[in-house]
Amino acid sequence: RCRGVHSVERVAAEDQSPKKEGLLLMARVTGHSAAAPESGKAWGGRFRQKTNRLVESFTVSVAVDRRLYVYDIQGSIAHCKTLGKARILTPSETRAIVKGLESVKTELDRGRFRFTQQDEDIHMAIERRLTELIGSLGGKLHTGRSRNDQVALDIRLFLRDHLSQLVAHLEKFQRVLVAKGKANRTIAMPGYTHLQRAQPVLFAHHLLAYVEMIERDKGRFRDASVRVNVMPLGSGALAGTNYPVDRRFTAGLLGFPSVTQNSLDAVSDRDFMIEVASALSITMMHLSRLSEELILWSSQEFQFVELPDAFCTGSSMMPQKKNPDVPELIRGKTGRVYGHLVNLLTTLKALPLSYNRDLQEDKPALFDALDTVTASVKVLTELMRRLTVNRDVLKQAVQGGGMLATEVADYLVTRGVPFREAHAITGRLVRVALDQGREIASFSLNELRTFSERIEKGLFARLTITAAIDRKSQIGGTARTRVEQRIQELERMLS
Ligand code: ARG
Repeated sequence: RCRGVHSVERVAAEDQSPKKEGLLLMARVTGHSAAAPESGKAWGGRFRQKTNRLVESFTVSVAVDRRLYVYDIQGSIAHCKTLGKARILTPSETRAIVKGLESVKTELDRGRFRFTQQDEDIHMAIERRLTELIGSLGGKLHTGRSRNDQVALDIRLFLRDHLSQLVAHLEKFQRVLVAKGKANRTIAMPGYTHLQRAQPVLFAHHLLAYVEMIERDKGRFRDASVRVNVMPLGSGALAGTNYPVDRRFTAGLLGFPSVTQNSLDAVSDRDFMIEVASALSITMMHLSRLSEELILWSSQEFQFVELPDAFCTGSSMMPQKKNPDVPELIRGKTGRVYGHLVNLLTTLKALPLSYNRDLQEDKPALFDALDTVTASVKVLTELMRRLTVNRDVLKQAVQGGGMLATEVADYLVTRGVPFREAHAITGRLVRVALDQGREIASFSLNELRTFSERIEKGLFARLTITAAIDRKSQIGGTARTRVEQRIQELERMLS
């Protein structure tokens, strides 16, 4: 078989002399290189010049989109069967193409597939190889299809798979956080606002805050999946297809619950990718917050936790250093993921309908955002699994900082003092405690009564960390009973 690649080699010059053109015309008339003339491309029929080398390397996307090959072949097999059902292909043609596509897949699976210079993208590469394997019949596969609806399908299939994998990773991360919380469920720590000690909370309560965030993240990915899960094939290049293909049949073969309703929209819609990039950015933001806390907590200033050695790195100069590079890198990579979101939004901004080659830029952004978040979730999961909590340091930390002051104010409220007044009284008490370098719990009843006559010895029972924590017993509070209940609920949800 005479392949386009060879005919291009015969015509090395980029601008053709009339004589050479004549030769090529002859070649075409005699039936050679019917699908791949002067330009060396499957689409080259109307071209008089071979594609410029710079253009070739500038437009090629196979290094990025080869990653879609499984989905491309899956989609092509469904398309081929749809053509068969519409009697555009005979049953034996259908079988031969499907078999050919499966062989191409095997080659790709085994790393035996040889890409050529002319392979512009994964779609062309697979079709080229199919035709090499089964002959000109391979040229029938693209009937009624464009790479525009094809690539839209491929990304949707890709995302459907990868989003469910990511959700599974997030769920594992949640399970580790819940388990870590459970193992440390009696440990209190300072809760912060403005990074100032505020009120005591359970360490488990703090970790479970992240479990809630991740739960919402999963919801966003599942929600985005609903709009990913729509079948675009049959939209053609932009206007639809001339062939009587049963689009719902294709959708059924590929497990899509519905088909796109407007061909122009179907080939140029990347909303679903933007939604995913947005959800990825939010997830990354959550990971960056936990990372920041791990960086702080593992510092000598806090010493709340010990990061596992296996997840830290050292300094090439300072022998004592143990650096929290993993959380730092997650924090750093967050900007990169946000960048991909803005990249996608900007690529789509003011883009006229329908498909434009700009859209090829979608994949590097999407893939990298997805890979970055997936890698970050996986490594943070294992780091958290091995995190050790410095109980003694936390026990010490929770004693300081006047974190029981709110308990005094709330006690005064139970004694009939309006909250604003109670706040002011307690504020004066805190001032004195600070001046004398004491904690409120160390004041005697007589001392306390100089601030308010309403104070009785009943206050002392409230002035312990445990009491302060356990009083926060409404839904969502840090009381031990509540947190334990939530741990159980989450364990059930995540099992
Ligand atoms: N590689 C292209 C992309 O990623 C596939 C679609 C190309 N379509 C076209 N008419 N050039 O978007």
